[in-house]
Amino acid sequence: MATLANAHAVIEEMRHVRQARLYRPDPVPEDVLNDLLEIARWTGSSRNSQPWHFVVVTDKEHLRQLSQLRTPINWMADAPLAIVIVLNGASEMSEAYDEGRVTERLLIGARLLGLGGGTAWFAAPEEERRAKEILGIPAERTAHSAVVLGYPTTLKDHRPNANTPGRKPLSEIVSHGQFGASKA
Ligand SMILES: Cc1cc2nc3c(=O)[nH]c(=O)nc-3n(C[C@H](O)[C@H](O)[C@H](O)COP(=O)(O)O)c2cc1C
Repeated sequence: MATLANAHAVIEEMRHVRQARLYRPDPVPEDVLNDLLEIARWTGSSRNSQPWHFVVVTDKEHLRQLSQLRTPINWMADAPLAIVIVLNGASEMSEAYDEGRVTERLLIGARLLGLGGGTAWFAAPEEERRAKEILGIPAERTAHSAVVLGYPTTLKDHRPNANTPGRKPLSEIVSHGQFGASKA
C-alpha cells in the first residue's frame, strides 16, 4: 500500500479532530456531504453487516426538535445539517461498536474537508423514542446519536457545564507487556 506523501499532515489533522458545536449558517455543500456519506458507507462493521442507515437532516424545525431532547445538545438547533445514525437493532453490542467507528470516520472526514462535526447523543429511551418519531424511523430500529456538521466558528465547549479539555498523557494510558508496566 502506498505511503501518502503528506501522511504526517493528515495525522496532524486527525490529532486535531475535536467536537465542534457552533457553526456558521452556511450550508454543507452537496458534494462534501456525498464525500462524507461515501466515507460512512465504506466503514467496516461486524461480519460486514453494515447495520446502518443515515438520515440527513437539514430541516430547521426537525433540527430544533432534536436539539430539545436534551439540554447538552441544544446547540444542534443552529447547525446546518445532522446525520442521524440509525442501526438495525439486531445486536446491541456490535452495533454500538459499529456506530462508534462510523461516527469517528465522519468526524475525521469532516475535519479533512474543512468542516467540523460533533456527536449529539439522545440515548435515554424516551429521547430515542421521540427522535424516531420526529424523523419517521421505525420503532424497532436503534437511533440514539447524530453527527452534526457545519463550518465551525469555534472548537471550544461553550456550554455552562463544559467538559474538561485536553487528553491524558500517554504515560497514564499505555502499558508495555503487562498492564501497568512501563517500558523497560
Ligand atoms: C457517546 C458520546 C456521547 C456524546 N454526547 C454528547 C452530547 O450529548 N453533547 C455534546 O455536546 N457532546 C457530546 N459528546 C462529545 C464529547 O463531549 C466530546 O467527544 C468530548 O468532550 C471530547 O471533546 P474534544 O474532542 O473537543 O476535546 C459525546 C461523545 C460521545 C463519544
